[in-house]
Amino acid sequence: MTVAVRDYSPKDYEVCRHLWVELTLHHREIYGDPTIGGDDPGSGFDAYLEVPERVGSWVAVSDSHVVGLTGLFDHGFSGEVEPVVVAGGWRHQGIGRVLIERVVAEACGRGFEYLAIRPVARNVAAIQNFYAAGFRTLGGHIDLTMDLKERRHRWLDGVNLHGRDFHY
Ligand SMILES: CC(C)(COP(=O)(O)OP(=O)(O)OC[C@H]1O[C@@H](n2cnc3c(N)ncnc32)[C@H](O)[C@@H]1OP(=O)(O)O)[C@@H](O)C(=O)NCCC(=O)NCCS
Repeated sequence: MTVAVRDYSPKDYEVCRHLWVELTLHHREIYGDPTIGGDDPGSGFDAYLEVPERVGSWVAVSDSHVVGLTGLFDHGFSGEVEPVVVAGGWRHQGIGRVLIERVVAEACGRGFEYLAIRPVARNVAAIQNFYAAGFRTLGGHIDLTMDLKERRHRWLDGVNLHGRDFHY
């Protein structure tokens, strides 16, 4: 399998909007919450394209099919990988890694001090993946929360940080 990474172009819009839907469905699945992303989860891609900090987006292409999407936000001193998604059926073949490497190269070229990637705490597979790709530092804020009402999903046990157990 040969995968190339190239710049996102407007002709990739429909397939990338669908990849965004896949990203949302993954979050619905891991939280067991079908309301995540609202009635039109693809609209998140429209909002993403308008983010002023977005300085580039790239697609992974195999045999002329777009099978993955990534992008880079410019936060001044730092960059952020957003999003990274590979189409179901194409995962675990190294495509996510190749996409991230492209963003890392772009971020290095722009002279950022560091690069962040911000998966939700429940996205265990993605966190393991990003760790393997070189993201080994908890670089900023930890999002500690306290429920004030009944939530739509149940929390899981099993994360320990600084000797304290957390739900996630
Ligand atoms: C997270 C995501 C982008 C990773 O993409 P991917 O293409 O599956 O990732 P890779 O194939 O590069 O790496 C996945 C694993 O497969 C392994 N792998 C890579 N090539 C492989 C191959 N040819 N054969 C078997 N395994 C392989 C990698 O070693 C990696 O394992 P590791 O994390 O233990 O090192 C993808 O799983 C995805 O789209 N998930 C749903 C959306 C999501 O959660 N996105 C992140 C939101 S922040």
